[in-house]
Amino acid sequence: MSRSVVILGTQWGDEGKGKVVDMLTEQADAVVRFQGGHNAGHTIVVEDQQTILHLIPSGILHDGVECLIGNGVVLAPDALQEEITMLDRKGVQVAERLRVSPACPLIMPYHILLDQAREKKRGKTAIGTTGRGIGPAYEDKVSRRGLRVADLFDEPYCNQRLEDIVDYHNFVLREYFGFDTIDLDDMKGLSRDYAEILAPLVADVSARIHALQADNRNILFEGAQGTLLDIDHGTYPFVTSSNTLAGGACAGSGTGPGSIDHVLGVVKAYTTRVGGGPFPTELFDDVGERLASRGKEFGATTGRARRCGWLDAVALGRAVRINGVTGLCITKLDVLDRLETIKICTAYACGGRPFDPLLMDGRAFERCEPVYEELEGWQESTSGATELSQLPEQAKAYLYRIEELSGVSIDLISTGPDRGHTIVCNAVY
Ligand code: GDP
Ligand code: IMO
Ligand code: MG
Repeated sequence: MSRSVVILGTQWGDEGKGKVVDMLTEQADAVVRFQGGHNAGHTIVVEDQQTILHLIPSGILHDGVECLIGNGVVLAPDALQEEITMLDRKGVQVAERLRVSPACPLIMPYHILLDQAREKKRGKTAIGTTGRGIGPAYEDKVSRRGLRVADLFDEPYCNQRLEDIVDYHNFVLREYFGFDTIDLDDMKGLSRDYAEILAPLVADVSARIHALQADNRNILFEGAQGTLLDIDHGTYPFVTSSNTLAGGACAGSGTGPGSIDHVLGVVKAYTTRVGGGPFPTELFDDVGERLASRGKEFGATTGRARRCGWLDAVALGRAVRINGVTGLCITKLDVLDRLETIKICTAYACGGRPFDPLLMDGRAFERCEPVYEELEGWQESTSGATELSQLPEQAKAYLYRIEELSGVSIDLISTGPDRGHTIVCNAVY
């Protein structure tokens, strides 16, 4: 039986999705990205060799696997070209196996300028975006102003559209932000380069997914960012600009909800966040520093230090509900090795009273004080464990408690960055 599985982050991103997708691709025929753009940074480690992917699906290191970029992804063709070249240098053949939807909105240089101008203007309340033009590109899509991949192949139409778009954005850049403007002819020239890069890669991604499913093939849908960064359900306005949820996999690739068989929620054994915004379980002490250094918590896209804290089971419960998570993958368990105690946030309070916010937006999250449950830590190493029986009793107790609190069973446990550092509890395929 073929299976289509969505893999997504249940926290604020960087849960280890890349590693899990790469590991599961062993049994998959295609991997699909359905939202976000090159704001993502997905790290794969195979025999000590690290590869960081931003746009290309994390299945690319497996020969013969198709990698599809769905219509929900905002696409920067120059970033894509850079990634293809990086992989080519590593001996990974990309061109034959990568396909891009013609409906992908394009990220153009003015989006990057606008992203930077907005952040600068926000000052202290800056979102801490990746500065890749993601938000402005999605804005152009929703305002029905943007250019899409398909538009590149009709030069007169593309040029005409660019005249209006550049005029509009230059007005905003100059008059509102006091920023430098962009040159229309430069954009027209760039669109020719982009057409050349993308021409061999364009395909009907939705039709391809349907054909694979009809042929009983296994497909992985690879989420980027995480549930708490979702534009609708996350800690708004400190979020990204796409739907990062499982529901986004359908709209962002052109497939129906009925074709999704399993939703694997990736949960880091603690929590990290990069950029601004509230984070109730954030640690400012030496335990937080220890998680950051043991977990090597520096951004895979921007190199920024990630903020660290305890696992938030309230937010996880919400993530399970809004994504319809049917299995968990706990990552970076090894980072918790040798802590005396481990805390899990099991409820929120506000001013010392129980607090259950209606909406988990940024303002409500700011008021949430974590109520913790304490568990005993373990003093042994779990690093690289591949069997449940290798784990100390306290580590198992922590995992069982996560299952209990979330109401979902654990399929996979990751105990190190390498593909092989994984415990399989329930086979996903
Ligand atoms: P993603 O954005 O969700 O794909 O995650 P990132 O790649 O941005 O960040 C996860 C980081 O943790 C990467 O450096 C991975 O190599 C690393 N990693 C993944 N799983 C594990 C694990 O189980 N243990 C440890 N120690 N590192 C891991
Ligand atoms: P992966 O896929 C962690 C964060 C940014 C910022 C907010 C908005 O590697 O998990 P954007 O550039 O998207 O407009 O920034 O979202 N952010 C991420 N944080 N992991 C990511 O991706 C992220 N992509 C965006 O730091 O707070
Ligand atoms: Mg990442």
